[in-house]
Amino acid sequence: MTKATKLFVGNYKGGVGKTTSIYQIALHMVTKGRKVLLVDLDPQCSLSEICLSKTDITLDTLQDNECLNYIYDMWNERKKFPLLKFDMTCSNLVKQTKEGIHFIPSNIFYTGGGLDELALKLSNDFYDLLPLQQFFKESEIEKEFDYILFDCPPSNTMLTQGAFLLSDYYVIPSIIQTLSIRGVVHYIKTVDSIFEKRCTSSDHSLIATACFGEKPRLLGIFETLKKGTVNNTSELQELKDELKKINIGSLQSNYLFDTIIKSNEHIARNTANGTLCEEYEPLTDEIVTSLEGKRSHAVAVIGDKRWLR
Ligand SMILES: Nc1ncnc2c1ncn2[C@@H]1O[C@H](COP(=O)(O)OP(=O)(O)OP(=O)(O)O)[C@@H](O)[C@H]1O
Ligand SMILES: [Mg+2]
Repeated sequence: MTKATKLFVGNYKGGVGKTTSIYQIALHMVTKGRKVLLVDLDPQCSLSEICLSKTDITLDTLQDNECLNYIYDMWNERKKFPLLKFDMTCSNLVKQTKEGIHFIPSNIFYTGGGLDELALKLSNDFYDLLPLQQFFKESEIEKEFDYILFDCPPSNTMLTQGAFLLSDYYVIPSIIQTLSIRGVVHYIKTVDSIFEKRCTSSDHSLIATACFGEKPRLLGIFETLKKGTVNNTSELQELKDELKKINIGSLQSNYLFDTIIKSNEHIARNTANGTLCEEYEPLTDEIVTSLEGKRSHAVAVIGDKRWLR
């Protein structure tokens, strides 16, 4: 069975362009003929609203079983009825924009609560990292896509941890300023330590490997919201030096993508109504080349992941 490559976009710093970037990257991927599923893990549902702007549906008309909240709600509910078999395939979840991006929206109006409230109902046990993984396994929708991209909110919850572990790769958009640099390094270390804690040194390491496979790999970091007049060469060097010290590695040499996304009001405006911004084409090319250029190499499938060797 061919499986999608799963990738999350994250940074614990808010407002660095995660949602804008993931939408634009997905749209460029679709334009280049890839089949893409976006998953909105943010309770604020900005990505869902952007995608819905390119459909005839609105957030307040979505039914409960048409959003990601349903999966977590169902997961919590079914713990009360351990002997009953529930269907986790949830065929109503996946929507499609006019341009052909598939997406699973989250919904702030969900009757059982927003994703933040539902995340709080999950326990801290390994078992509660599994709802997303189980949904993908049972629904088998992975085989319909080349890429599944998760938009992660700037928070560390069971919900985001479940998405980290399920992903093959991750990318980090960042503003390059002294304070954000520490944030990027902290984020990479956190992803690493979540994997160590949940999968390697956990009592459930066997099940963890079967469900999640290997640690998600850092695909690369890209600079966003760069102001035209700012010279941040020294901050950029500081970031490279800090990254060398942590020695985690990435698919980009020097960790950084070449593309820089400048701060430009039209990117904000166009993304809000779902329009393509050409500024993201070179970045999408870099991401796709990085992943597919190496597909001629052996692909290992470990747990629910596909990995380039
Ligand atoms: N290149 C850009 N130029 C100008 N404005 C931008 C650019 N990228 C994003 N923005 C704007 O910056 C704000 C934050 O962007 P976005 O919502 O994508 O960030 P985020 O990292 O997803 O935020 P959060 O952490 O809250 O999820 C938004 O108003 C967006 O329209
Ligand atoms: Mg966001």
